[in-house]
Amino acid sequence: MIDGALFKRGMRRLAAGVSIITTIEQSIPQGLVATSVCSVCVEPEPSLLVCVNLNSSCHDAISRTGIFCVNLLSSGDVELARRFSSSESRDRRFEETPWQPLFTGAPALSATLASFDCEITQVIPVHSHTIFIGAVRDVRLWQSDVDALLYIDGQYGVLASSVA
Ligand SMILES: Cc1cc2nc3c(=O)[nH]c(=O)nc-3n(C[C@H](O)[C@H](O)[C@H](O)COP(=O)(O)O)c2cc1C
Repeated sequence: MIDGALFKRGMRRLAAGVSIITTIEQSIPQGLVATSVCSVCVEPEPSLLVCVNLNSSCHDAISRTGIFCVNLLSSGDVELARRFSSSESRDRRFEETPWQPLFTGAPALSATLASFDCEITQVIPVHSHTIFIGAVRDVRLWQSDVDALLYIDGQYGVLASSVA
């Protein structure tokens, strides 16, 4: 078996877009930052996946409610990303964060780049994480500039320029 530390060092070189995954349970919105979002398929129904750690405070709420919303962050959203990834700010995550329910009721953050409102269709446990596959019930493109927030080598960044 390969060394986990080496695996982590390698994965730090994978540039990833940053998202906030939200859900709502008993009228209480919850959310976490995630880079593990991936498009799965378009047909027969548009679907995406996200991998959520079992220890994350909203893992069980996502599992119980069967709904989540993926909100893609833009370059101006670093503070929002810090708030939704630090446990210290767990109770303040939705303060001054405008959101609205779409089809499922999960919070769509309207100050972000885009939102994908999902119903969970498959749940795949993988050791410390759960892969939630969601069928996309609504999509909102909140901003016209696609100025995505990235995460690489332990730091937030933006795409400096496109090649060709
Ligand atoms: C850039 C970044 C990406 C992250 N990606 C994921 C992820 O894909 N899945 C996950 O479960 N946690 C991920 N995390 C960690 C969660 O955001 C964090 O553990 C969680 O918000 C902790 O908060 P809690 O207080 O809600 O448990 C990531 C954190 C950062 C900073």
